[in-house]
Amino acid sequence: MSVQEQKAPVAKKVISEAVILMPRTFLMRSENQSATTKENHEDLYNTYVKSFNRISAKLDTVSRADADNSNDSEYRRLKLDEVHNMNGVKLHELYFTNVGDPKSEIRADSIPFMRLSRDWGTFDAWQLDFRACGMAAREGWAVCYFDPFKNQYFNCFVEQHTANVPVMGIPVLVVDTWHHAWFYDFPGDKMEYMNKSMREINWEVVEMRMMAAEMSKLNQVYAIQPVASIDKEKTVGFSPASSAPVAVLGDRK
Ligand SMILES: [Fe+2]
Repeated sequence: MSVQEQKAPVAKKVISEAVILMPRTFLMRSENQSATTKENHEDLYNTYVKSFNRISAKLDTVSRADADNSNDSEYRRLKLDEVHNMNGVKLHELYFTNVGDPKSEIRADSIPFMRLSRDWGTFDAWQLDFRACGMAAREGWAVCYFDPFKNQYFNCFVEQHTANVPVMGIPVLVVDTWHHAWFYDFPGDKMEYMNKSMREINWEVVEMRMMAAEMSKLNQVYAIQPVASIDKEKTVGFSPASSAPVAVLGDRK
């Protein structure tokens, strides 16, 4: 019997996707942000955490069978909102921990200075490129990433929380460019917000992230190649719509 003709085994467990995030607390030491902006940010962050937890629980029970088209399904809406809120939490946590250092300073012998100078030619060239990312971003984020494939850093912006996110890019520095982050304190002057935010970067945090990113060896993910087989009985393929797409070889359940 070919794999395609086998019946998919009945699931023994109910799908359980629920992941509960616990909101973290952060020291908001920035001297550039008003108390109002800090409170607004805290409220927004907590809303992303609560929304993610609620969506995660709903995904445990929503019908997969009704998600039979890409135009309208509760499953589709929940999956979009899941990543929106998940990234909203992650990006804010990265942002809260890498800015707001009033004693910010970068040393010429630090890893961030050496890496960014290496990849842009000069540290100032990196600064201007990163600020340009922030200015070009609409409601979103300016992000400096480590690319484990090229083993170098690059700047890019995210729009909202999910658009223009580079696959496998590891964020080492994040600055919020949503209006709520800057418009109240710097009305109409986003450039000043970017300048002042970059003068409060916690370079020790960025350095630790760079070290972790470079040691992660995620470039190995790209190097994995498939093992070819000419044995048709061992070929996995698509099954009827009523069953799971992939049958597991050797699964005796
Ligand atoms: Fe924000």
